[in-house]
Amino acid sequence: MLKMSALYPGSFDPITNGHVDIIERGLKVFDRVIVAVLKNPKKHPLFTTKERVKMVQDIFASRPAVEVRAFDGLLVDFARTQGTRVVIRGLRAISDFEYEFQMALMNRSLEPEIETFFMMPSVHYSFLSSNLVREVAALGGSVDGLVPPAVSRRLRSKVRGPHKVQIS
Ligand SMILES: Nc1ncnc2c1ncn2[C@@H]1O[C@H](COP(=O)(O)OP(=O)(O)OP(=O)(O)O)[C@@H](O)[C@H]1O
Ligand SMILES: [Mg+2]
Repeated sequence: MLKMSALYPGSFDPITNGHVDIIERGLKVFDRVIVAVLKNPKKHPLFTTKERVKMVQDIFASRPAVEVRAFDGLLVDFARTQGTRVVIRGLRAISDFEYEFQMALMNRSLEPEIETFFMMPSVHYSFLSSNLVREVAALGGSVDGLVPPAVSRRLRSKVRGPHKVQIS
């Protein structure tokens, strides 16, 4: 294992088993994984930043090698404040490649010292996205097996709650 930390950025709206899979793979390589939750108000997240951070913290409560922080602004600037030079990204079947390629090269031109490290999830999660999970939950479907149980409970209470889930 490398004595080095890595940043894993995303919206995590909400965290899915695909994200959990990537974090666990990251922990096999890096001694610390900092999950960086993007505040992105433009995307109108279903869960608040605080809720998204808390869900990741709860899932990894027994794993001190996982830290969770919220951030906004440029990823490379945030990486610098955390003293990390590696960014982890997950690659799903086909769909992620072009966007991830663009982002990695843009981040490299902004900060040549930062390397992007791509990891593939288990085949079971290769077609899983937070957006799909939000859609299924909004329509009353079960997301068991796609997200950790605590996330599934929170999704159900959002659907039932006073503010209906918005599909984006
Ligand atoms: N099922 C998955 N397997 C592997 N990587 C994933 C998976 N879901 C997300 N990722 C990766 O995790 C990072 C953060 O993703 P993000 O939080 O935007 O999730 P998302 O599922 O794409 O969300 P949304 O559907 O809202 O766009 C990205 O690198 C993304 O490719
Ligand atoms: Mg996405």
